[in-house]
Amino acid sequence: MRPIKLKTNHQFNPLGIDSPQPSFSWQLGEDAGRFQQSAFELRVQTESGVVWDSGVVAQSQSHAIHYAGATFESQTLYCWTVRVRDSDENWSDWSEPATFETGLLQRDEWQGQWIGETPRMESAAMPAPTLRSKFKTEPSAVKKARLYATAGGLYEIFINGERVGEDVLAPGWSNYDKRRQAIAYDVTSLVESGENAIGASLGEGWFCGYLFYKREREFYGKDPHLLLQLEIEYTDGTRQTVCTDENWRVTSDGPILMSGVYDGEVYDARKELGDWSLSEYDDSAWHTAHVYEDKGAQLVNKLKPPIQQIEELKTIELYESAPGVHVFNLGQNMAGWVRLKVNAPRGTRFTLKFGEWVNDDGSVYLGNLRTAKSTDTYICKGGGEEIFEPHFTYHGFQYVELVCDNDAVVIEPDTVTGIVICSDMEQTGTFECSDPLVSRLQQNIVWGQRGNFLAVPTGCPNRDERLGWTGDALMFLGTAAFNYNVETFFEKWLCDLSDDQLASGSYPDVAPDVACKDGFHWPIDAISPLSVKILRGSLYGEGGCAGWADVGVICPWVIYERYGDARILERSYDSMAAYVKFLEDESNHFLRPFEGYGDWLSIDTSPSDLFLSPTPQDLIGTAFFAYDADLMAKTAEVLGKKADAEAYRTLAKNIKQAFCDEFVSANGRLAGDTQTAYLLALGYDLIPEALQGRVVENLVLSLERRDWKLSTGFLGTPLLCSVLTKFGRTDIAYRLLLQKEYPSWLYPVLQGATTMWERWNSWTKEDGFGNTGMNSFNHCACGAVGEWMATTVGGISFAEPGYKKVRIAPIPGEGITWAKTSYASPYGKISVDWKTEGPAFELNFTVPSNTTAEVLVSGADASLELPDGITLVGETASGIECIALPGVYRLNTSKLRVAQS
Ligand code: BGC
Repeated sequence: MRPIKLKTNHQFNPLGIDSPQPSFSWQLGEDAGRFQQSAFELRVQTESGVVWDSGVVAQSQSHAIHYAGATFESQTLYCWTVRVRDSDENWSDWSEPATFETGLLQRDEWQGQWIGETPRMESAAMPAPTLRSKFKTEPSAVKKARLYATAGGLYEIFINGERVGEDVLAPGWSNYDKRRQAIAYDVTSLVESGENAIGASLGEGWFCGYLFYKREREFYGKDPHLLLQLEIEYTDGTRQTVCTDENWRVTSDGPILMSGVYDGEVYDARKELGDWSLSEYDDSAWHTAHVYEDKGAQLVNKLKPPIQQIEELKTIELYESAPGVHVFNLGQNMAGWVRLKVNAPRGTRFTLKFGEWVNDDGSVYLGNLRTAKSTDTYICKGGGEEIFEPHFTYHGFQYVELVCDNDAVVIEPDTVTGIVICSDMEQTGTFECSDPLVSRLQQNIVWGQRGNFLAVPTGCPNRDERLGWTGDALMFLGTAAFNYNVETFFEKWLCDLSDDQLASGSYPDVAPDVACKDGFHWPIDAISPLSVKILRGSLYGEGGCAGWADVGVICPWVIYERYGDARILERSYDSMAAYVKFLEDESNHFLRPFEGYGDWLSIDTSPSDLFLSPTPQDLIGTAFFAYDADLMAKTAEVLGKKADAEAYRTLAKNIKQAFCDEFVSANGRLAGDTQTAYLLALGYDLIPEALQGRVVENLVLSLERRDWKLSTGFLGTPLLCSVLTKFGRTDIAYRLLLQKEYPSWLYPVLQGATTMWERWNSWTKEDGFGNTGMNSFNHCACGAVGEWMATTVGGISFAEPGYKKVRIAPIPGEGITWAKTSYASPYGKISVDWKTEGPAFELNFTVPSNTTAEVLVSGADASLELPDGITLVGETASGIECIALPGVYRLNTSKLRVAQS
């Protein structure tokens, strides 16, 4: 037995590492059986010798072990191996070695210049510039070649006619004024001996393109520009550096006439530049590149995951909604673009528009795109089959409307193929159950994440937003972390958030911040004067919106809990503390002011004013304030900051007292009497134990009054089922989950939804489309029930950070007779499947090596015979509690008590 799956900073053999103390992780694999690691020994070395020998470290974690050796050298290959010991002093073999390579660690090692097209006067989308240069290799053979790349804007890089890397929309989005992401590529196989050429085309992307609904552009700069450094190492030990500089050549006379994230791309194939990235290409018609000033932003190695193409979708239906208007249905709402395959005469123009739904007459519904043009145009060069995919844009869509200006051209289903793109996270969670609608709901939740975890956690992938809305990230965090490994995705986004933290300590509404920045204002004429008052903070660029900004405290904690690496808390601590200080400063006797977005899109919100939340805004703000203070206390505790922990505990106590005095009646009725008010109070532990029963009763009454239908918005929805389970009413949670009538989770599924909708009423049979001013069919928030499905129906959660201790506790309920769930934890795969047949209950589960599991066997009593590896801990009203060692188990009981109403 030896450790396997060795990862550095969560990647297999990564390049470009720039963190001084990267993290190491490994697994023990199925062969390890019941092995429990009691110690490890880890060695890191270079060609010149060992740089870190951890010695024997008595630690059972095999995840988030941080390097503590000699300072790294730039561009150096490090090799590491690890072995582990069990509690009986038996050592495993040493693992196979894993590697990581450092990037350019010092800013002054970047030798190149930022280059681009001659600065333009216009403030409008311009043709994409293409840049190139030639270089000659030394006579010695190339041992390895690395390309380090970054841009203000987006790039596609080529060496000798070959595309570098598989990432798209690279290098992604960050606050470019402060931090630019650089990517390291292994280009050894692309560099040829002798003459070579390297080049790139540039898109405006988030750097200088349109962002947000007011069609403002150039948030970070006016023109896209590029910084490349190619490092070649020869077998004789010599090195060569090729970088972007004033000798590069540039042209904007290429085929990409326009390409913007929101608007799409216009591509004229007649203007293609030919083999422009080959050395023999004649670039005499090009001109000299412009050198842009280095504004001194930090250059950081881009954290995984890159945005990549993850799937292709075939057309499932093709028809004409009007003569010559071809509609392709790809069967799945998604983010990405299409590959267009055509054969048409030179000059033929294809116009493609992208929508998420269709109107009654079969035409594509484009009403919800607002100012985003979301249109790709392709003009043929002629002479045979042509294939086009856009370069610097993406769309959110299921349907494609294609119009060709030549009626004679044959349009077929395979003219269009859907290319799905997403920040390519490792899929970790799976869930399915006996109800096909609920299984489809899970698929819709996953597709919602695929469509919205794209560079940053966006609200929607289609209209003129696609922004990293803090609230949307907060609501969906727990579910996101079940479906996919989001550890580094959020590590990076938390940098975006703290980069844009306001001087007051408050966080902006979106990160990277294009809202609070420069005094963004909501369109005041669209909302009532009262809301203008309520929204004070957000309207005037002050951020700090309750349930949105709180992600700055909640996200680091959730990521710590799921993956067990306290570094995320350490890195975020000052920023979190500054936010909580802001909340204290802004509060009056521990009560947060009456402002913010409220329980956004709750079914009871007035259609004429989205900002008038039925759950009082000050109640919401104060609930989050208390929760933040609680999490700060826990965080300080984990980091060993005892005095801080005590101070935050006192703060939390005071806020909870103020909350109860202000918003909770002596008999447990909450101000507003809304489902969300009860859920926040119970979910965030604001109610003294003695009163909890009454508050739960009122929550249940609030549901019964609506005939067991939900009325929650963004803030209440994630808590709905989990709070019911927490207080012993899983039966009602099942009832809500399985509700088919509007409003419910299954109503959209029954209407054919393939992603989660922004509103419960994004479309209803009675009223058709919801308010087009804000109506996406691909939003994550309502999908936040996924976490409860995985933990309570499925039965998998963590009992200790990072799943070092697992909790297996499925609670069967009326309406579902089986469920199968799995989760790829840092320690290996956990799986649970169960089925019921009358009172019989069968529970199968797997506990990975080097963990233990707390197991609840629903309905069983102490007489149940337990297999080797499982010991009984106690009996409760819902079943027996056991502890299981690593292994694969099957348990049967005939006394199931299904959660019943
Ligand atoms: C976004 C949201 C966001 C909200 C804030 C919307 O336009 O798409 O999901 O949280 O604004 O009010």
